[in-house]
Amino acid sequence: MENIRVQKLHKEYTRWNWQAGKNEPFTEDMTLFTLSTPGSTYALAALESGHLAHVYYGKRTDDEDLSYLLRLGENPYTIKVNSRDTGTFMDTTPFEYPTFGTGDYRESAFALTDENGAAATSLVYRGYEIIEGKPALVQELEDCKVTLPSVKGCPRCASTLVITMEEVRTGAQVVLYYTAFRELDVITRSAVVKNTGDTAFKVTRAMSTAVDLDSDKYDFITLNGSWARERILERSPLHHGKQSIDSMKGESSHQSNPFAALVSHKADEESGEAYGFNLVYSGNFFAQAEVTQHKRTRFVMGMAPFDFSWTVAPGASFTVPEAVMVYSSEGIGKMSRTFHDLYRQHLIRGEYKDKARPVLINNWEATYFNFDTEKLVSIAESASKAGIEMLVMDDGWFGHRNSDDSSLGDWYVNEEKIKGGLKDLVDRVNALGMKFGIWFEPEMISPDSDLYRAHPDWAIQVKGLPLTQSRQQYVLDYSRKEIRDNIWAQMKKILDSANIEYIKWDMNRQITECGSAALPADRRQELWHRYVLGVYDLQERLVSEYPHILLENCSGGGARFDPGMLYFSPQIWTSDDTDAIERLKIQAGTSVCYPASAMGAHVSDCPNHTVGRSTPFSTRGNVAMVGTFGYELDITRISEEDRAQIPGQIAEFKKYNPIVREGDHYRLANIFEDNTFDAWMFVTKDKQKAVFTAVQVLGRPNYHSRLVKLAGLDEKKRYRSSLTNEVHSGAALMNCGVIVDLSGDFKSMVIEFEEVK
Ligand code: GLA
Repeated sequence: MENIRVQKLHKEYTRWNWQAGKNEPFTEDMTLFTLSTPGSTYALAALESGHLAHVYYGKRTDDEDLSYLLRLGENPYTIKVNSRDTGTFMDTTPFEYPTFGTGDYRESAFALTDENGAAATSLVYRGYEIIEGKPALVQELEDCKVTLPSVKGCPRCASTLVITMEEVRTGAQVVLYYTAFRELDVITRSAVVKNTGDTAFKVTRAMSTAVDLDSDKYDFITLNGSWARERILERSPLHHGKQSIDSMKGESSHQSNPFAALVSHKADEESGEAYGFNLVYSGNFFAQAEVTQHKRTRFVMGMAPFDFSWTVAPGASFTVPEAVMVYSSEGIGKMSRTFHDLYRQHLIRGEYKDKARPVLINNWEATYFNFDTEKLVSIAESASKAGIEMLVMDDGWFGHRNSDDSSLGDWYVNEEKIKGGLKDLVDRVNALGMKFGIWFEPEMISPDSDLYRAHPDWAIQVKGLPLTQSRQQYVLDYSRKEIRDNIWAQMKKILDSANIEYIKWDMNRQITECGSAALPADRRQELWHRYVLGVYDLQERLVSEYPHILLENCSGGGARFDPGMLYFSPQIWTSDDTDAIERLKIQAGTSVCYPASAMGAHVSDCPNHTVGRSTPFSTRGNVAMVGTFGYELDITRISEEDRAQIPGQIAEFKKYNPIVREGDHYRLANIFEDNTFDAWMFVTKDKQKAVFTAVQVLGRPNYHSRLVKLAGLDEKKRYRSSLTNEVHSGAALMNCGVIVDLSGDFKSMVIEFEEVK
């Protein structure tokens, strides 16, 4: 199926010349590009003037020629016959990759400065190419090449429109990539800036996407939070001016996720328009919706432009991270499911992509730093009897680390704790029939470490400023290959010393005093991005050299839950808050963009260590099953009653996990609006099976049971309920609902529906 159409058009217009007092004909030659996905259309046009204008993005619209939307006959939009008003043209025309300083006063997507220091930037269209499939994004550095995370698209799945623009002042080539997917309503964008001249220039701003929509009637949805309450959904109507989110922390952050959506005011889970944007990047970012003077909306998303610049030497190039754009005319729910499908099919890689993940037990909340071989083995013994499949040894096994005050960077086993060595411990765990996983925090260095004593300049720092500690640690300068090589060599030694089948890669602080002992002053602003590239380089080494290891990313809980990390790890620790009730919001917010198959979720002990709440063991299980399931408690010390529930919980998890992992996710209640009740379901793609969960957060006095309408089933199919054993049509379950009878706080239920033929 051809999903990118190119038309060379010769258009005839008339415009009203108010000075002459008459209509005047004029013509415009343009190239119109129309990208189609099953349910969306994206159109852009290269005008005769060389400007690349945005024509349309929205519901799939098949038409001969959508260029009429440019309204070129309207004064003052007509640059060809009205150069007197070029400024107005610049500030009102919808553009694809708007630049700074030449009359477009809306937020710009791209700017560079040349050797003379000028910042005004102008791009003109030079040509296009269509590629079947989707090229990888690569950044060449002085001493290595780094592949940036991006969505994969084989020639069967996607085609890419490549548009070459030229920067007028410097001759720089700016190549814009647009990939349209054939089976999903997804368009991805990125860019490469090439220096084909003989003097260097600095890119000072290079967004991944910019979209001009013709209306301001949208709500802005973002996922914001803090440590232990990540990705809480916020929704507010756009208003005149700018609404933005960003991170300047060196990681995507707890506080804001690199996701934003523009949705029609009435959009809900099932209906209305939704445009979702997600940056495939794990560092500083910026996303902004701006209502312009003409009540239109410009949305931009990309790497944060503040304290960023990148010098592109002659012959070199700079690669802009990718943005994913999803359009849905069937509400926010469909937008989420499109993201889920895209990430499960085209972003997540490796052996565990489509595979069940082992049920794990992690010792962090069980022991914190206070453990040794015998303690871990005792946990493993009890866990293996309960059917748990993997023991993860968390923080505290290396250097002389007994609290968070030392040893990051010294990745050798502390044999005072791990008596007999790592291999002995892993062998003993393996002998119980369990896999073994281990925690690393490879990007960090403790002031109290052999590594820091030997290389104080390896910490990110600014000469003359005291170095800010956070969790008593500093961040390693991952822009330097020798530092990455050192950490990698240490990690490899550990990985080769025992049968390690899982790694939790943590990152527990943000960057301050962003400076490098190795970068020249005029490249200092590159450090934020070079750091992220360094992390990607090391994670790529890990997944390619150890493809059997299951990688779980983590950052003080969920501070780096982004598509950049998902490219390397099929799962990410969602939050340090494991309380089942807090997790309702955290997991619902995360699911707006990310699939349940990627959400690390554990059953922990009560009272919960973060909020002090006690919830039934069954509810903790039912909530953790909407993710990669595991336990994070001292199984040897919990009550016999709780322990006895684990085998049944694991059996349920295994039964439902294929539906959760691969099925379609429907949010049936809105925990952000009504925090007393939540419900969701997952439906297999063939609509033969579904699993429904409801959680009554607070008991309701003097109410009857409630009806919850299901979604995503086939109206005509008949389904048997595992709760009542009754059979009802999909139509009844969706139009009338299922009865949910939960009284009392924190009660929950799970019902399976299976087609009866
Ligand atoms: C972070 C993680 C936790 C745990 C600790 C260990 O906070 O999110 O799960 O691994 O670090 O220090």
